[in-house]
Amino acid sequence: MQIGPYALANPVFVAPMAGVTDRPFRQLCKRLGAGYAVSEMVTSRRDLWDSLKTSRRANHEGEPGPIAVQIAGTDAAMMADAARYNIDRGAQIIDINMGCPAKKVCNKWAGSALMQDETLALEIIDAIVQASAVHGVPVTLKMRTGWCQSHKNALSIALAAQSAGIAMVTVHGRTREQGYRGQAEYETMAAVKAALHIPVVANGDITSPHQARQVLSLTGADAVMIGRAAQGRPWIFREITHFLETGNVLASPLVQEVRRWLVAHLQDHYSLYGEYTGVRSARKHIAWYLRSLPGGEDFRRRLNLLSDSAAQVQAVDDFLNQLNQSMDRIPAVYDASGRLLPEAASHGNESDPMRHPTMSLHHEQ
Ligand SMILES: Cc1cc2nc3c(=O)[nH]c(=O)nc-3n(C[C@H](O)[C@H](O)[C@H](O)COP(=O)(O)O)c2cc1C
Repeated sequence: MQIGPYALANPVFVAPMAGVTDRPFRQLCKRLGAGYAVSEMVTSRRDLWDSLKTSRRANHEGEPGPIAVQIAGTDAAMMADAARYNIDRGAQIIDINMGCPAKKVCNKWAGSALMQDETLALEIIDAIVQASAVHGVPVTLKMRTGWCQSHKNALSIALAAQSAGIAMVTVHGRTREQGYRGQAEYETMAAVKAALHIPVVANGDITSPHQARQVLSLTGADAVMIGRAAQGRPWIFREITHFLETGNVLASPLVQEVRRWLVAHLQDHYSLYGEYTGVRSARKHIAWYLRSLPGGEDFRRRLNLLSDSAAQVQAVDDFLNQLNQSMDRIPAVYDASGRLLPEAASHGNESDPMRHPTMSLHHEQ
């Protein structure tokens, strides 16, 4: 699997999720087996580039490459500028957000809303590809299956994007109108893959190794991209890659492994966000990690009362050390064929956005 000059370790990617896939989380996912990660979207609004939020998103210190930065906006010249700005700050791949219902970017709907206006979408793609080509930087595109059920234009946009020089296309199997409702469909991705010669990535509702393999074979896609199922479960990447390579289901992680990963994740998180914001924004990650563990819900309620990082880390450490007295490994979430167990799905059914406290975050920009 190759994006421009970059060979990727494996075809299992982390999806960009604003408010979730920040540098600490991406680094952890990569360490635990993800072949590739895209940053949270960065606005094309120049007046926001100096904001704390954008400068954190544009910070890639210590992240293993290739560094892929997603940009969002509705104006071709501004998007080209945003590509140049991020390339100057270390982006090695630029990803165009045409998949996320990004509101308030340039005071207009951006992201997947662009799929409604193919002429503008192509103008933006052309401008970014030209601005990036000067620096030898490949440009990729993330989109949905279309604007609405009666206007599924992923294929025509993907073909035009390929002709314009796009190096890889990711398709989330829902329309813009669907938001996160219903189930992702994979037929449109199969049609896009069959028509394109550049790599195509399948995304949407992939929550288990078995499902990843099924989606790859159903669509013929070159890679899968995992979003919500990785929240609090960054080891899903090694589980999927192991299953794709061997056909065997990896044992659940040891409680002590989860403790070490989570504590390291928290330390990285505080160092990026600082004490005040870090402690508050870490709560959702901790809740995701612990939601399906015995006593996890009670712990989450207690956790929200803690307001300093040392106490937060200590509480997590104590909780997992105590859990380790009754079990070595966290409870299995897959059966022997790699399918998500029903009881695990009821805790972490990633296809239901209402279960995701940060769903509203990606509307902020
Ligand atoms: C909290 C959250 C934030 C998201 N932010 C972005 C984003 O910044 N850019 C983007 O292209 N997609 C974004 N998405 C969409 C995901 O990348 C992905 O396409 C979608 O969640 C479907 O994949 P999944 O079923 O594996 O989660 C976001 C999704 C969530 C849940």
